[in-house]
Amino acid sequence: MTHSPTPSGSAPREADAEALRQRALAALLTARERTALLTDSVDDHELTAQHSPLMSPLVWDLAHIGNQEELWLLRGVAGREAMRPEIDGLYDAFEHPRATRPSLPLLAPAEARAYAAEVRGRALDVLDGTALNGGRPLVRAGFAFGMIAQHEQQHDETMLITHQLRSGPAVLAAPVPPAPTDAAGLPAEVLVPGGPFTMGTSAEPWALDNERPAHVRDVPGFLIDTTPVTCGAYQEFIEDGGYTERRWWAPEGWVMVREHELTAPLFWHRDAGQWLRRRFGVTEVVPGDEPVLHVSWYEADAFARWAGRRLPTEAEWEKAARHDPVSGRSRRYPWGDEDPAPELANLGQRHLRPAPVGTYAQGRSPYGARQLIGDVWEWTSSDFLPYPGFSAFPYREYSEVFFGPAHKVLRGGSFAVDPVACRGTFRNWDLPVRRQIFSGFRTARDA
Ligand code: AVJ
Ligand code: FE
Repeated sequence: MTHSPTPSGSAPREADAEALRQRALAALLTARERTALLTDSVDDHELTAQHSPLMSPLVWDLAHIGNQEELWLLRGVAGREAMRPEIDGLYDAFEHPRATRPSLPLLAPAEARAYAAEVRGRALDVLDGTALNGGRPLVRAGFAFGMIAQHEQQHDETMLITHQLRSGPAVLAAPVPPAPTDAAGLPAEVLVPGGPFTMGTSAEPWALDNERPAHVRDVPGFLIDTTPVTCGAYQEFIEDGGYTERRWWAPEGWVMVREHELTAPLFWHRDAGQWLRRRFGVTEVVPGDEPVLHVSWYEADAFARWAGRRLPTEAEWEKAARHDPVSGRSRRYPWGDEDPAPELANLGQRHLRPAPVGTYAQGRSPYGARQLIGDVWEWTSSDFLPYPGFSAFPYREYSEVFFGPAHKVLRGGSFAVDPVACRGTFRNWDLPVRRQIFSGFRTARDA
């Protein structure tokens, strides 16, 4: 499905508003199907258990998804009364850190499912009855509905991380991703000449506040890896003593390595002379040609230094992904303005792993870089900061409270991200010590 972006601030035409309504409906239904799969695949005991102190019990995510939908679509858009005001505090992510959530009087699995379903039924009525071609910014172009579909999909990624952290036999399965057809001839890196480009967006109707507004950045020339760094290349770093030599590491990274005695990415272990990994309950040999996954920013930064390179800045990443040197425009995605499709990128939990590097030739950027969208989130060197002209919308706790040097930006989305929550402008962020997320990276150097 392709859509024409709506200019910021202006109301979409009637026909475009109707297309956005259909798009919102489809996105909400797709998200709920994924939520159901992730929560119906384990029993009630596993839904309420805490699989890792880093994560919420799955049943928390489920009711939180419903609660945010109630907050924004029923109360925010339609002005309804709270359905169960006594539960709001339980599902406020800022009131209770993840580690404490299992001890809260949470809704039991059956109650959580019924609550989320009840909210959804009412939200679809609200969608039906709301004009999207005008009105308040919250409803214009279906923003609140798109935001809530993205929110549910973001928690579906979070829940997939919980699945990866749980022990016990596999409960999820998916086909293997496609293989590359022309990877042998690919250059190791591509050149992006210096010059201005447009970063961020003011046109994408469902872009979140931190992606706005569009603004011009001058980016000096640089070279960036054609594909993400592979497990094979990362093994060379390990075998060369990467985790034992302080000189490759940022000071806080070295502290982390020593304190946790890190020797490899999360979920890897060595057995009989080879590296194995655990992936959704299955142990397998680490595939040399797959993008490395489950590395912290500190590990990505150390690898890059060892390789005589550096992480790309966020602006470099976005220019490599979106700038079209022929038209001078920034596109929605590396391949153009069309929405993601299975032949363009590994998204949507269709495959429960990244594809080998060099896959998705059709999804390449004008400069020839591949797999910028999908497969693995890519760490950048940049802190998570507001763009010039940023304004928090519709709530400060989505982005604004996270701005600052504590969080590093990740770009491009992973195999676990749905297309509705993935764009060339989409910004994710996390602490530099995080490794349970679906994170990898590529490296760069000055031209
Ligand atoms: C944008 C992925 C960092 O999961 O913490 C979910 C998204 N915000 N609910 C997160 C989010 C509120 C957020 N990240
Ligand atoms: Fe949330």
